[in-house]
Amino acid sequence: MNIALIGHGKMGAEVERIALAKQIGVKKIFTVENNPDGKALTRESLREVDVCIEFSMPAAAVKNIGAVAKAGVPIVVGTTGWYDQLDSVRKLIEKSGTGMVYAPNFSVGINVLHQLINCAAHLFDKYEMYDAAIRETHHRGKLDSPSGTALHLSQLLLRQIRRIDRVVAGNPDGKIPPGGLSVSSTRLGSVVGEHSVVFDSEADTLEIVHRAKNRSGFALGALIAAGWIRDKKGVYTMEDVLTT
Ligand SMILES: NC(=O)c1ccc[n+]([C@@H]2O[C@H](COP(=O)([O-])OP(=O)(O)OC[C@H]3O[C@@H](n4cnc5c(N)ncnc54)[C@H](OP(=O)(O)O)[C@@H]3O)[C@@H](O)[C@H]2O)c1
Repeated sequence: MNIALIGHGKMGAEVERIALAKQIGVKKIFTVENNPDGKALTRESLREVDVCIEFSMPAAAVKNIGAVAKAGVPIVVGTTGWYDQLDSVRKLIEKSGTGMVYAPNFSVGINVLHQLINCAAHLFDKYEMYDAAIRETHHRGKLDSPSGTALHLSQLLLRQIRRIDRVVAGNPDGKIPPGGLSVSSTRLGSVVGEHSVVFDSEADTLEIVHRAKNRSGFALGALIAAGWIRDKKGVYTMEDVLTT
């Protein structure tokens, strides 16, 4: 398989390192300098590329996805913070007849965490004495807040626990309203990514925590997704990659 990297920051560099160790060809690297507004991503520049892997910035991701779709190449998108435009991106991918896997978190551990949270939330739905909250911590340079992973975990809780009906992100101004799910973010040093889902009652606390030790799990997951999407059309998440 031959890939192109779009974005060569912390994640792009890690994907490159793991790809080379696995004898996956890194044919092109697109950066903010050589790819302003996604303009360098063309059918010609991606001629030898089977799949693009996109880890750039929220403001750049949608243009990059659009250009890659127009070039007829499947894409794996790791960038977070653009999901408000997911509907239009989905239409664009479907219209172009290409494939996309997107995920706020490509690590296998986080995707197993999703299953655990689904199961726990389903069970706690019946027990009104339990409250729930999400905490996340990332390095100081992270652009979006709460993290895409924390927002995804919130959606899992909102879907399963009927007494929770909205996310209250950041520090609430006064008491948290009834039905609010507290999602708090801390930005600290060089923390790669920590997510914790807490269920609390007067009697006990259950806390399920995922700690990324480095970026290799995200990069490996993105490469697994690249191999998976290579010959597929349509829009998928990492859950599809890991369960089908
Ligand atoms: N899904 C996951 O598993 C996962 C895991 C970790 C991180 N992330 C997300 O992935 C994204 C990248 O994270 P990171 O830690 O690698 O960030 P980073 O170190 O800041 O790197 C982002 C890179 O994107 C480049 N860029 C900006 N516009 C571009 C364009 N038009 N074309 C090509 N490259 C462009 C930037 O170039 P300059 O440096 O020159 O500005 C920078 O090198 C973030 O949204 C982060 O939240 C996702």
